Amino acid sequence: MAVSRLSTLFGTGPSGVLRRTLPAEPPGSSRMVRTLGLTQLTMIGIGAIIGAGIFSLAASVAKDTAGPAVLVSFLVAGLASLFAAFAYAEFAGMVPRAGSSYTYCAAVLGELVGWIVGWDLLLEYTAIVAVVAIGMSGYLGFLLDGLGMHLPQWALGAPGTGAGHRVDLIAMLICLAVAWLLTRGTRTSARVETVLTIIKILIVLVVIVLGFTRLDPANLHPFAPFGVTGALTGASTVFFAVFGYDALSSAAEESVSARRHLPKAMLISLGVSMVLYVLACIVLTGMQHYSRLDPKSGFSSALRSVGFAGVANIVALGAIIGIVTVTFSFMMGAARIWYALGRDGLMPATFAVLHPKRRIPHRATWSIGIIAAALAGLFPINTVAELTNIGVLLAFVLVSGAVLVLRYRKPGLRRGFRCPGMPVVPLCSIGFSIWLMSYLHWETWARLGGWLVLGLAVYAGYGYRRARRVRPGGSVELESLDTS
Ligand code: ALA
Repeated sequence: MAVSRLSTLFGTGPSGVLRRTLPAEPPGSSRMVRTLGLTQLTMIGIGAIIGAGIFSLAASVAKDTAGPAVLVSFLVAGLASLFAAFAYAEFAGMVPRAGSSYTYCAAVLGELVGWIVGWDLLLEYTAIVAVVAIGMSGYLGFLLDGLGMHLPQWALGAPGTGAGHRVDLIAMLICLAVAWLLTRGTRTSARVETVLTIIKILIVLVVIVLGFTRLDPANLHPFAPFGVTGALTGASTVFFAVFGYDALSSAAEESVSARRHLPKAMLISLGVSMVLYVLACIVLTGMQHYSRLDPKSGFSSALRSVGFAGVANIVALGAIIGIVTVTFSFMMGAARIWYALGRDGLMPATFAVLHPKRRIPHRATWSIGIIAAALAGLFPINTVAELTNIGVLLAFVLVSGAVLVLRYRKPGLRRGFRCPGMPVVPLCSIGFSIWLMSYLHWETWARLGGWLVLGLAVYAGYGYRRARRVRPGGSVELESLDTS
């Protein structure tokens, strides 16, 4: 009988307690170790949110698309992301299982939708790791050049759309190094991540404080040289900067109290990031006229232009450090989605096997690291980058839809956090996300479509039957999932 499956994750048990039907865990898998508290989760969230979006995209969008109104772009994108964050927070406080949006959507909208989201996010998260590694490789080459150390061209890849693209060996090594560090154990990588995120926040604060001392209000005029359209188009690009807390929810099973801490960590990390973004945008376009900004190293060049040449180099280094934490968070997120899919029988069970000592999904982590390295090494940055926003926005639509459905289907379910303003907030999240997706190129839609068709084939050929074999019908009390 293959009916109750993940699509009936929420049924009512004999005592009226909601039950979540889960597959049996494959041999070798077991529970992960709960080591992450609110502070570390918030740091992982900020580590995933603040990255290439502010360090690289803010200046290029200000220069070419929005002018000083890039501030408005960030606010619009941030608002869209906030609506979705409320939905993620409600789920995180209710379904504290690894797997992020996959788990949420499977729980409410059924296994097939859950699979589509999981498959979608596997691509997106792996692509983000690759994009960021390629970006870091570029910064690193730039800094080393400045020091007179010229790396051979064959090791540096090529920016842009692909003409003359070469293997980007540094980007590949970055992906593999991050995978290695993540397989050292959650506590080790969370500590490294916390330190790196603190450095990143300090770097942004230094930029903001120094920037305000040299802010010239004349640079902020005209505020919106490309009009409202420019500011709104910019929002669809800088959207890249405002997600990341969704990857945080993948660490649910390593949280000491996911139900209490995850919703808070998501909202705090987005709030802190948005405050820093707003201030950073003001000083960026206030220090240097938007038309003169350097799109590749915006903050450094703006600081140099107002006489802070030494600090500019430190900020460039800080940007690299800041960006690396994004690779940590998303590789960790992708590996845990893979782990959850393996555990639920939708992917081979080998990916759900945890390292015997470190209790982390080491095989899934290495798989993501190797695929990200291949993407980062072999494909140009634009091709990989285009895949990210559309996939994350699709997940936002489905998660917001799922939270809406569940609120009406199971209003009495115990929730660690309740999305406010029902049903307006999730509806706004869905509307905003679709609207931002509509700005993306048709090629991006076609690539996503191709990946989803492949995913459906994998589901039909493997997951559909296999998920039924690994789940002997055992049920787990939803209330007991958070054992903390
Ligand atoms: N929000 C992340 C970044 O800006 C993906 O790099």
